[in-house]
Formats: sequence, C-alpha cells, structure tokens
Amino acid sequence: MDTIRLTGDDWRLLRDVRLAALADAPYAYGSSLAVEEAFEEADWRRRLHGGALWTVVRRAGETVGLVGAYVPDDTPMLVAMWVRPAARGLGISDLLITDVLRWAGENRWSRVVLRVADGNDAARKLFLRHGFEPTGRREPLESDPGVSTELLSRAI
Ligand SMILES: CC(C)(COP(=O)(O)OP(=O)(O)OC[C@H]1O[C@@H](n2cnc3c(N)ncnc32)[C@H](O)[C@@H]1OP(=O)(O)O)[C@@H](O)C(=O)NCCC(=O)NCCS
Repeated sequence: MDTIRLTGDDWRLLRDVRLAALADAPYAYGSSLAVEEAFEEADWRRRLHGGALWTVVRRAGETVGLVGAYVPDDTPMLVAMWVRPAARGLGISDLLITDVLRWAGENRWSRVVLRVADGNDAARKLFLRHGFEPTGRREPLESDPGVSTELLSRAI
C-alpha cells in the first residue's frame, strides 16, 4: 500500500475518489454529491492549492482511501476521510490519520480538530482510538441540518 500526497496535477484523481466517497457515505459529509459533481477543473485545482493537504492510499493500482486537511481558523481540520467499502477493516484509515498528524507536525501546528456526525459510530470510535477528544462543541451538518456534528480535538 502506498500513501501519496496529491498535488495540483492530481485533480482528476481527487475528483474521482471524492465523488465516490460522497456517493457512498453522504451521511458523513457537510457537502454533497450534487454540489461537487458540478465542480470544474479549476475548483478541484483550487482545493489542491495553498496550505491544504490531500492524501490518498493506493493498493494494487486502485485508490482505496482519502483524507484532507486545511486550516479554516488558525487550527488545522481533518476532513473528507473515506475508505472504499471493500478495503475497510484493514487499517487504511490509520495510514490516513497518521499522515494528517505528520503534516500538522511538519507545519508546527499544535492541534488538529475534526467534526464527526452523530450516529457515525465507526468513525467516532476510530478517532477516539487515535487520541482525539470530545470538545462538546456542536454544529449542524450543512448537508442535513437535522443532524448534529461534534468537534473532536487532538494535541500534536
Ligand atoms: C470510518 C472509516 C474511514 C474507517 O475506515 P477503516 O479503514 O475501515 O478503519 P479501520 O480499519 O480502523 O476499521 C474501523 C472499524 O471497522 C471495522 N470493520 C472491519 N471490517 C469492516 C468492513 N468490511 N466494513 C466496515 N467496517 C469494518 C473494524 O473492525 C473497525 O472496528 P473496531 O474498531 O471495532 O475494530 C470508514 O468506515 C469509512 O470510510 N466510512 C464512511 C465515511 C466516513 O464515515 N468518514 C468519516 C467522516 S468523519
């Protein structure tokens, strides 16, 4: 398995895996398949620019995992985590989380946060196992405002 950080020229790879994630697990994300299917090349390239991280895991020529991280307000946020259903339970999410924490350390950030939707127990358990802690801060999930998300936080 290879863990690969994407650059601007990888925008098609990012698009394909991100759309697969949104189609597979719409309950997990603030965005939606309809919104991102309408994105153009420039939108995907913009995501890959600047201070953001996009990492994939590839296995036997197939992209089996995706994670992103960016800095919305002075603290990096892990986003868009997804493992292809056929590749779950193999620890691929461990590789993805580890790369986000490594990237945050390389950039001298002292903390990483993320949001997890209520009811997404597999993801919540995974993040707690990696040292993320509940903060009690809650916000609605933009794609389904009836669902609440909780901010989890981890020191580097
Ligand atoms: C959450 C997610 C990223 C975990 O990825 P993963 O690489 O399977 O993670 P792990 O290998 O650590 O396995 C996580 C759990 O799923 C279990 N699992 C094992 N085989 C599995 C399978 N075939 N399918 C689903 N879960 C499986 C594991 O045993 C583990 O549970 P445990 O901690 O009780 O042992 C993945 O389920 C996913 O992409 N979900 C949809 C998107 C999502 O929820 N993203 C998070 C947004 S906050």
